[in-house]
Amino acid sequence: MQQEWLQQINSAQDLKVLDELRVQLLGKNGLITQQLKALGTLAPEERKTKGAQINALKDLFTSSIDEKKISLEQQALKLRLTNEKIDITLPPRPEMVGKFHPISKVIADITKYFSQIGFQVFDGPHIETQELNFDALNIPAHHPARQSHDTFYIEGSDEVLRTHTSPMEIRTLRKHKPPIRFLSPGRTFRSDYDATHTPMFHQMEGVVIEEGINFGHLKGTIIDFCRWFFEDPNLKLRFRPSFFPFTEPSAEVDIGWGNGKWLEVLGCGMMHPTVLANCGIDSTKYQGFAFGMGMERFAMLKYGINDIRAFYEGDTRWLDMHGFGSIT
Ligand code: DAH
Repeated sequence: MQQEWLQQINSAQDLKVLDELRVQLLGKNGLITQQLKALGTLAPEERKTKGAQINALKDLFTSSIDEKKISLEQQALKLRLTNEKIDITLPPRPEMVGKFHPISKVIADITKYFSQIGFQVFDGPHIETQELNFDALNIPAHHPARQSHDTFYIEGSDEVLRTHTSPMEIRTLRKHKPPIRFLSPGRTFRSDYDATHTPMFHQMEGVVIEEGINFGHLKGTIIDFCRWFFEDPNLKLRFRPSFFPFTEPSAEVDIGWGNGKWLEVLGCGMMHPTVLANCGIDSTKYQGFAFGMGMERFAMLKYGINDIRAFYEGDTRWLDMHGFGSIT
């Protein structure tokens, strides 16, 4: 019997079979366990010899099962190691990684630049009252400047989709008093669609109101900024006299494009006293300047993108080419 059991233990094919054998021999009702229990019914002499024999068998079976168990476990591990091999020489699958849109990049870069010279950032709503989009900015109801904005009006309401970020000048200055420097980037809307216009686009408003601010501060700020942005310390700039109802004097800024061409990049001027008064600011004490720039225009010039419509077609192949892995 001993040989038979040992034979069975040794030929067990897996851990489950081996454990069944352990239960049959050494379990609660196992063969050996029963024999050990039966010892009590024997005469003392017989109990001694039989007991020794059975305990020796118990030790033999226990160690055989343990040994077999270790060898089966090693076998199983070996099998897993050969079957579950990973080929680390395989090239990685191309990952789907997102890119930051060039407009996000331009807004982040410009915001970072101006925040280093003391500008705060204020975000504003896309829907504005005509009061804030026009009137408070000194653009009265029948002024031609209002017509030139191709405004999206909201039916049955006094509100419009903001045509520029300039209403943020009013919102901010009614809440926060000078001295103050701030930026307000965001979406703007006009009913227009061609290679250089989309109905939704982005502007960045900039405002500085402090005592003794003059046109020289405006020029210096804009010139330094444009030379930094376009990474050209010798970039040519031209301040062209212009008109905006909310600034006086006003200018449009062109940058020289090597080939003798000038390209307009922003509008600016000294804050109109009426606009300051509309925000409850005493223009005899505080002066300031403001500028408004088109983010798409800046991105197109810097990154050589020539059709604005591509920005908003949502083509991920285009974004793969023109997007950025990081914008900080
Ligand atoms: N809001 C003007 C526009 O959309 C741009 C502009 C011009 C903003 C002059 C300004 C400014 O702050 O001073 O055409």
